[in-house]
Amino acid sequence: MRRQQLHFAAVVAAIVVTAWVAHMRGGVGQSEAKGWQFEAVPIDGAVGPESFSFDPRGEGPYTGVSDGRIIKWHQTQNRWLNFSAIASSSHWDEECGGPCDEHSKKEHVCGRPLGLCFSTLSNDLYIADSYKGLVVVGPHGGTTRRLVSTIEGEPLAFTNGLDVDQRTGAVYFTSSSSKYPRRNYMSLILSRDKTGMLMKYEPQSEQVSVLLKNLSYANGVALSKDGEYILIIETTTCRVLRYWLETPKTGTLEVFADLPGFPDNIKRSPRGGFWVGIYSRREKIIQWILSYPWIGKVLLRLPLDIPKAYSYLAKLKRSNGMAIRLSEQGDILEIVNEKNGSIGRSISEVEERDGILWVGSIDAPFVGKYNIHVVEGQVKRI
Ligand SMILES: *[C@@H]1O[C@H](CO)[C@@H](O)[C@H](O)[C@H]1NC(C)=O
Ligand SMILES: *[C@@H]1O[C@H](CO)[C@@H](O)[C@H](O)[C@H]1NC(C)=O
Ligand SMILES: *[C@@H]1O[C@H](CO)[C@@H](O)[C@H](O)[C@H]1NC(C)=O
Repeated sequence: MRRQQLHFAAVVAAIVVTAWVAHMRGGVGQSEAKGWQFEAVPIDGAVGPESFSFDPRGEGPYTGVSDGRIIKWHQTQNRWLNFSAIASSSHWDEECGGPCDEHSKKEHVCGRPLGLCFSTLSNDLYIADSYKGLVVVGPHGGTTRRLVSTIEGEPLAFTNGLDVDQRTGAVYFTSSSSKYPRRNYMSLILSRDKTGMLMKYEPQSEQVSVLLKNLSYANGVALSKDGEYILIIETTTCRVLRYWLETPKTGTLEVFADLPGFPDNIKRSPRGGFWVGIYSRREKIIQWILSYPWIGKVLLRLPLDIPKAYSYLAKLKRSNGMAIRLSEQGDILEIVNEKNGSIGRSISEVEERDGILWVGSIDAPFVGKYNIHVVEGQVKRI
């Protein structure tokens, strides 16, 4: 690398860090948004409820957290129950748990469950665990079973999103990268890695197939209501892709929507369309870095304190989340945001059910629960 480039990159790094700090300062205390009937449902002993699923009886939601547990919301007891854990119970007792800020150091052992979805055919809960691959647990919880942990002879480095075709039981899931684990998601973004994949697992034959390769940080997935297509989030490019599974367009991949921030998961809304959780806005500085691939590469090689940079980014995300509902044509129908720390954290997913938005986040110690007020099909502030 030329010295001049290195010098320039150091300046860029300094600007980025300054921008993060300035943003953090600016982001605190802005409280113009009022009014959502919001409840933070705390989680004991862990953080980061990333994704939700209700079981076929309508109980839950269930969510996966930072110590590798899957917990279930008990509606009448008004509390979380332990449902399952990625690590076996003896392993869990010895190594998992403990202080939340140490969970990420142990997640390759304890697991880090991300995408979740029940199959209404088998009543099983399928889990995309970022370290263990595709995992399943029966309707009564307890011990999990690994279904897919390698693909074409390579271990799955970062399994992430998941949806189930309820007509056939087929499980569609993504791997964000074949190089970078979840812990290094910033490197995944900065390097513009394109080793993400979409895969399909068929429970009857236990066969797994790769449907798409070369995706840029493939993340959440959602099937359309009729199963004709699947939407795939590409985090680095801030896009939603549509891949046709049926109809004469089968096998076609197209851009479904461009988003104003880095998207995480996507879920169907019972009012039509799809909710997309946005982890952070697309800041100009980051956009600029991403438009010059070599800057990202240089940043990765600099002796920066990467964990510190991550934590700046985490703080930036905290004041920056939002959720967007897209129509079935990919148009923005509504945007939900609040600068005031509650929904304003990084948002990983929004699951809408019976007039409630369950809002997940990769770092919050609670689940956001919003009672929504729908007027003419749109969420209104109350
Ligand atoms: C906004 O933040 C302030 C201070 O943190 C808090 O007291 C208030 O309840 C928050 N408002 C909403 C709507 O969350
Ligand atoms: C769930 O498991 C954790 C860790 O073992 C424990 O601290 C907690 O009390 C359990 N919660 C319930 C409701 O059993
Ligand atoms: C994926 O990327 C690899 C390496 O860059 C390339 O050789 C391959 O042709 C690409 N595959 C598709 C389907 O674009």
